[in-house]
Amino acid sequence: MTDPSTDPLTGPATGPVPVVIDCDPGVDDAVALLLALASPHLDVRGVTTVAGNVSLTDVNRNAAHVLDLAGAPADLPLVPGLAGPIARTRRIRDEPMHGAGGLGGLLPASPPRPLTPGHAVDWLAEQALRSPGELTLVAIGPLSNVAAVLARHPEAGPAFREIVVMGGAAFAQGNVTPAAEFNFHADPEAARYVLESGLPVRIVGLDVTRAALYPLEAAEHLASLPGTAGTAGGLLREYARRYLDRFGVPAVPVHDALAVAAVSDPELLGWEEGSASVECSGELTRGALVADLRTPDRARNVRVARTVDADGFSAHLTEGITRYAAGPDHTA
Ligand code: RIB
Ligand code: CA
Repeated sequence: MTDPSTDPLTGPATGPVPVVIDCDPGVDDAVALLLALASPHLDVRGVTTVAGNVSLTDVNRNAAHVLDLAGAPADLPLVPGLAGPIARTRRIRDEPMHGAGGLGGLLPASPPRPLTPGHAVDWLAEQALRSPGELTLVAIGPLSNVAAVLARHPEAGPAFREIVVMGGAAFAQGNVTPAAEFNFHADPEAARYVLESGLPVRIVGLDVTRAALYPLEAAEHLASLPGTAGTAGGLLREYARRYLDRFGVPAVPVHDALAVAAVSDPELLGWEEGSASVECSGELTRGALVADLRTPDRARNVRVARTVDADGFSAHLTEGITRYAAGPDHTA
């Protein structure tokens, strides 16, 4: 596995971690972006988009609105990516967990900031090659863009410090089928390509996101705060209410926010290393994450999150969103 002196989990803390975030907002993507942009432990270098929760057009619009909501620098790159999976037709998600338009109806009347010209696949490769070994790629949507970067720019993959992925369910039930989690089910070929690349990948899957539910009551508190914090709290509250209506549980998994926390606050999670792949042709198991945590003779390039400090994550999320109560400059 990784050289301890450069290991993202054990290496020396050398200031805010440079990250780029590939996303498909989605409410939990929106919360993840807000937390990342307010975190003193992260240096967000840019955001890229991929079709997933909703169409690429809607994802682009939602991501732009979220960056505006966060008060992100006007020149922060927001680069559009792939409109569907790398090897199959995109399935329209029939599960509006994220509400109307993918952000629970948060669609300000004014148009959002413009996208950055270019394509996410090329932009991500350029950023990695500009600072080899420095940049962490956080992927919280289907892995279509990430796989395309590794395939089209093979020299770029090894230039990332690591790839942190929200996806899969190693030892838990899926959320699209019993076997598969949404991001891996949406583009299984891409997920397999990334996990089998041999690059250092950390997986934050349903195994831990479902063990760290954010209470509806805490979301209701956030929704009572002023400014951007209240808006974000409102998004989370409606997301949690839809989850309560569907599953009868007054708390909700904020999947993508936990993946970002795996970089900003890695002590919240416990890891096991091994190798992994994704089923691509199973009639019942398409998109299933197959993690091999035995002591295989194969490359042990993957670490799977197996434990989580649920209370610590809830406090982390509350603290991060509350930073916006004093305005988008996070000076709360
Ligand atoms: O399974 C959870 C993942 O799918 C998250 O990234 C969420 O945004 C949904 O798209
Ligand atoms: Ca997502």
